[in-house]
Amino acid sequence: MTPDQITLVQTSFAKVAPISDKAAELFYGRLFEIAPQVRVLFPDDVTDQRKKLMATLAVVVKGLSNLDTILPAASALARRHVQYGAEPAHYSVVGAALLWMLGLGSSWTPDVAAAWTAAYSTLSELMISAANSPRPEQASAK
Ligand code: HEM
Repeated sequence: MTPDQITLVQTSFAKVAPISDKAAELFYGRLFEIAPQVRVLFPDDVTDQRKKLMATLAVVVKGLSNLDTILPAASALARRHVQYGAEPAHYSVVGAALLWMLGLGSSWTPDVAAAWTAAYSTLSELMISAANSPRPEQASAK
């Protein structure tokens, strides 16, 4: 990612932050519409997941300019996702639902879309490889 793309992701995410609960609701609605097969992996009530997802995205978005700071938490998150039943192929549908949700904002432009695509690729590649690596980088990471 270029520094400009990181800034685009950060400023566009800041616009979603005030409506994060609604945004997360839209995200899950879209995800279960385009990938109904993943619905069973989630609890019936995803209220808690909505908050956790947006809080985690906020941390990731903040850490994009210094990936080392989020690596331990992202690796631990990836390992928990293996327990949840998340498979590598699911990352692309989650990414599609996420970009769709973000794209509902009025300031969505091709540059913002490209920046988010790059950010999500970075995060999902990192998580997929951490999920498949044999040992935690930091046993103490959350
Ligand atoms: C990079 C993208 C993703 C992020 C940032 C993310 C983030 C989160 C967070 C923060 C939670 C709350 C629980 C925890 O912290 O361990 C969660 C739960 C969950 N995620 Fe993800 N996730 C991502 C991708 C995926 C994918 C690809 C799947 C596959 C379908 C998935 C399935 C789940 C499920 C099933 C839960 C609920 C587990 C439960 O409460 O029983 N996530 N996710």
